Amino acid sequence: MGGIAVAVGMGLGLGGGMLSSLSELSERKKPGPGVAMLTAYDYPTARLLDEAGVDLLLVGDSLGMVVLGLPDTVGVSMADMLHHARAVRRGAKRAPVVVDLPYHSYLMPGQAVHNARRLMAAGADAVKLEGGEAMADQVRAITGAGIPFVGHIGMLPQQVREEGGYKKKGRTADGAEQLLADARALEAAGACAMILESVMPEVAVRITREVGIPTIGIGSGTGTDGQVLVTHDLLGSFPWFRPPFAKAEADLAGETTRAVGAFLEAVRGF
Ligand code: KIV
Repeated sequence: MGGIAVAVGMGLGLGGGMLSSLSELSERKKPGPGVAMLTAYDYPTARLLDEAGVDLLLVGDSLGMVVLGLPDTVGVSMADMLHHARAVRRGAKRAPVVVDLPYHSYLMPGQAVHNARRLMAAGADAVKLEGGEAMADQVRAITGAGIPFVGHIGMLPQQVREEGGYKKKGRTADGAEQLLADARALEAAGACAMILESVMPEVAVRITREVGIPTIGIGSGTGTDGQVLVTHDLLGSFPWFRPPFAKAEADLAGETTRAVGAFLEAVRGF
């Protein structure tokens, strides 16, 4: 897997091509360069990541936690996603923007298409929802309406309350088979890529081998076609929680505290 550092290097013109349209995604299946995807929820972050060469931007409903201070993604609304999608669209000139359909916005195929169209009108290049086989009708309806779609299987954060926590997926033989069935269902329904979240690494490798579309992993080992991270975890700007698999490459929280301290000292004189 090429990884984030490779993609940033490409953005700086150090060789290779960063993604500039979703139609190029299929060329990034292994052994092509890794697909580097990061979340963005606002204009400056989208612009910085786009200019740094990130392949894909994700307006994830993780914004519920890292931007809105909610306990999980369940409380995120369509209005929230539309608002942040518009801001990210203004900042992203090159990188395709994928936007999450939030909790309960895709219970039926018709509702899924209606809300996917609203996200596209707000500036999305593709939409994403959580689930595999169980969501095949919704995914077929979305792709049938000509809307590019990215899947998301494995641990599904929108189900955290039903599941009683965030749990690794694919630990049992049955669990692994279900994930493979989910992955095949998404590909058959027309997904152009899929996220594998908190999937056992060996199962993520199997899925990556079996499907013809790129897999983008998070907490699923290094055997996928790409990696996605919540940008706050990469930059160390949400110090109250960071998942163990996410390596912080900066300490923006510490730098913020230091800069504010310097300002306070300058204003107060001590
Ligand atoms: O909402 C999000 O940020 C996501 C990623 C964790 C994949 O779905």
